[in-house]
Amino acid sequence: MQTIRQLDLLRGGIAEFREQGATIALVPTMGALHAGHMALIEAAKRPGTRVVASIFVNPKQFGPNEDLSRYPRKETADTRMLKEAGCDLLWMPPVEAMYPDGFSTSVSVAGVSEGLDGAARPGHFDGVATVVAKLFNQVRPDIAWFGEKDFQQLAVIRRMVADLDFGIDIMGLPTQREDDGLALSSRNIYLDDDQRSRAVALPRALGVAAKGIGKGDDVETVLAAARDSLAAAGFEIDYVTLVDAETLKEVPDPERPRRLLAAARMGGTRLIDNIAV
Ligand code: PAF
Repeated sequence: MQTIRQLDLLRGGIAEFREQGATIALVPTMGALHAGHMALIEAAKRPGTRVVASIFVNPKQFGPNEDLSRYPRKETADTRMLKEAGCDLLWMPPVEAMYPDGFSTSVSVAGVSEGLDGAARPGHFDGVATVVAKLFNQVRPDIAWFGEKDFQQLAVIRRMVADLDFGIDIMGLPTQREDDGLALSSRNIYLDDDQRSRAVALPRALGVAAKGIGKGDDVETVLAAARDSLAAAGFEIDYVTLVDAETLKEVPDPERPRRLLAAARMGGTRLIDNIAV
């Protein structure tokens, strides 16, 4: 696996893959890799495909009071994991290469970016869309893989790719989970043992609620019960809501695919999760 930190070298590496007739798949990450990221690499590995992973802790998607400075950075372990997983190229640009002095552009996706995490974390999805647009222009992949755990992020990226004619297939991989159901996340390491054992209430509440809504129970009653069980486990709730799986609009049409989304804080750690209904 080549590790590249300069854009001209990246372009050379990608050109070589293209000369070999390879399809290029991109797995964008912020590092602190876990089994969820490895599942994305595994899914991206297909005959005739070269897998490019990126690691960049993107300052533009962190709010002023968020965890940018303490976000886990594990370059050596991440590089080893990607190599062992069969990744072909690691793109690890320094921040000055991504955002040189004078950088002034922001990509903003209206609608899907606005509610939920977009409301709780102002500017977050502009930061995500901007960096993902840059990564797409740098790597120029045919396919890009994202986890469904960040369901709103996936919807924002799909909208951006459609609106701006990127011509990239966006693939969503189902959320990878611990044995007890907690969604894998780089932020889980912030949880102490007690918080970790209580955090399982999040996937459980969503599972129970999705089942109830699926069999026709009153949505508001089901959501209220989910909120109560999260509060009882010690979560501070940002939202628990049912949305249209594509537009993320609330009060969705029951004839269309729907998704139950939640964000809640356990101690100082903000966890998100979602489930299909
Ligand atoms: O999901 C993430 O890790 C990040 O939001 C992404 C897509 C790599 C953009 O920084």
